[in-house]
Amino acid sequence: MSPMRLPEPGTVQIAPSILSADFARLADEIAQVVDAGVRMVHLDVMDGHFVPNLTIGPPVVKWIRKCTGAVLDTHLMITEPQTYAERFVEAGSDHITFHIETVDEPEAFVQHLRDLGVTVGVTLNPETPAEAVRDVARLCDMVLVMTVHPGFGGQAFIDAAARKCTALREWLGPDIRIEVDGGIDATTAPRVVGYGADTLVAGNAIFGQADRKAAIEDIRRAIR
Ligand code: DX5
Ligand code: ZN
Repeated sequence: MSPMRLPEPGTVQIAPSILSADFARLADEIAQVVDAGVRMVHLDVMDGHFVPNLTIGPPVVKWIRKCTGAVLDTHLMITEPQTYAERFVEAGSDHITFHIETVDEPEAFVQHLRDLGVTVGVTLNPETPAEAVRDVARLCDMVLVMTVHPGFGGQAFIDAAARKCTALREWLGPDIRIEVDGGIDATTAPRVVGYGADTLVAGNAIFGQADRKAAIEDIRRAIR
């Protein structure tokens, strides 16, 4: 099956991060957010090197692929994305985002990912300036602005990092998605949309609530 494309530009999308979900009931957790109308599911891949935490690899993505048709938005928080990206694509990832801090020749890597048939995102840590992705982001479908230090769910939103969205939106125009990740909830969502973000990752704010559908509705209502 060929990879799914990202939702059309100009629409605000909520991408629940399964990092805060119950991994023993993943299919049901994903079904709940897809029933609530989300079109993207955010998968956090951590290697214990780039970030001080470990999560999932291609075997888990393979089983997630079998249980949903949502876009699998795969965020690689790993030191060697070039070594592993293809395995995630083979497992069923539709979209791959890599960290600018981990790749010496990002333009060539973007092309490699495109050749694999997926859409591409580049991301940057809170302390990395927006200028670091200015050129390569134009070649991508999405830029992900980290609004916490990557590694864990449930951290406090860093407003100074989110403000990078404003410059990026000005440089990139309306057709490239700007995603934010970390500390997004019904309070911070309107702020980041005001800065120019159109793709909102939320882990704890959704899977930390008993009623996932209501939690998604709360965020939607806040940005309407
Ligand atoms: C953090 C991950 C996030 C995380 C966000 O390193 O990249 O995707 O799940 O979690 P919340 O929404 O709980 O801050
Ligand atoms: Zn993430």
